[in-house]
Amino acid sequence: MTAKVHVDLPGRAYDIHIGPGLIAQAGAHLAALGGRRHICIITDDNVARLHLAGLQGALSAAGLTSSALALPPGEATKSWTQLEHVTEWLLAQKVERKDCVIAFGGGVIGDLAGFAAAILRRGVRFVQIPTSLLAQVDSSVGGKTGINSPHGKNLIGAFHQPALVLADTYLLGTLPERDFLAGYGEVVKYGLLGDAAFFDWLETSAPGMAAGDMDARVRAVTRSCEMKADIVRRDETEQGDRALLNLGHTFCHALESATGYSDRLLHGEGVAIGCALAFELSARLGLCSQEDPSRVRAHLRAMGMKVDISDIPGDLPGAEALLHLMGQDKKVQDGKLRFILARGIGEAFITSDVPGDAVLDLLRDALRS
Ligand code: GLY
Repeated sequence: MTAKVHVDLPGRAYDIHIGPGLIAQAGAHLAALGGRRHICIITDDNVARLHLAGLQGALSAAGLTSSALALPPGEATKSWTQLEHVTEWLLAQKVERKDCVIAFGGGVIGDLAGFAAAILRRGVRFVQIPTSLLAQVDSSVGGKTGINSPHGKNLIGAFHQPALVLADTYLLGTLPERDFLAGYGEVVKYGLLGDAAFFDWLETSAPGMAAGDMDARVRAVTRSCEMKADIVRRDETEQGDRALLNLGHTFCHALESATGYSDRLLHGEGVAIGCALAFELSARLGLCSQEDPSRVRAHLRAMGMKVDISDIPGDLPGAEALLHLMGQDKKVQDGKLRFILARGIGEAFITSDVPGDAVLDLLRDALRS
């Protein structure tokens, strides 16, 4: 029941393996990559408690020794301080260019460890072993790495592709339901942006997937990775099409910023709300039918997810302030907001041609409801 997706980048191609129990095969995969037979693992305390012994056991069964650095879980770990900690630790472990460092965790660990690998000795290889649904379908694939700045999220970083991704779908079974559903926000995004048949399938299969159907989990992660791999192959450094992956993200980043990047709103929850808003805006601008945003919202509701701005607990600033926060997004070009809108489900496109008033009206209505 395992699947493989090839990310076809000249000179930097790699495979994403997806399936239950892949951790047990990690030793064979790592040994095949070559380099020193000692592997350094960057992880967080939660993942270490649940899964590190399993990973280290699998490495040692293949004759590889390993050492691990476990960091505090949470977004605050994507910082200059922890970047220094990780890079100095890797140097102390005598990691060389041909060695492989493992990023073993969710998006925070993948981004931080990937960035440390990008700058250490001007680039060492790294392997992503993503443990959250969000990391398996999005952040571990495509080579975006980085940390946060007091000026904003992900503002310091590099493109550095992994040498291999192992997405063990068994690991999803230990995620809290809220984290699983937040990751699902990114899965649904793929259907909405470019594959209507995948969205149809999610409408019927995603409840079972959330309840633990392993075949459905493998299929959902695989289709998401295929779509991401295809977009990254066409546009690795986001000069064009890669921005499609930001469907829902302009709204999401403003809402995350307004909630202080706290657990009032997880990133994937913001993506889901942002996708619903992007479809509502598309319908208001006459780009897609009014049925499309209704269908998006109905599916998110059926999954028990946050759908509306009013689902976010606590107070939020007004529409003008949210629009201002949208302007802080790093995808702003020449001062113009770039939106991903849709002509229908599975038909997203990139535009800078959105009247500010339409966005303000949408936000005002969303904040009132
Ligand atoms: N998460 C968006 C991207 O990788 O481009």
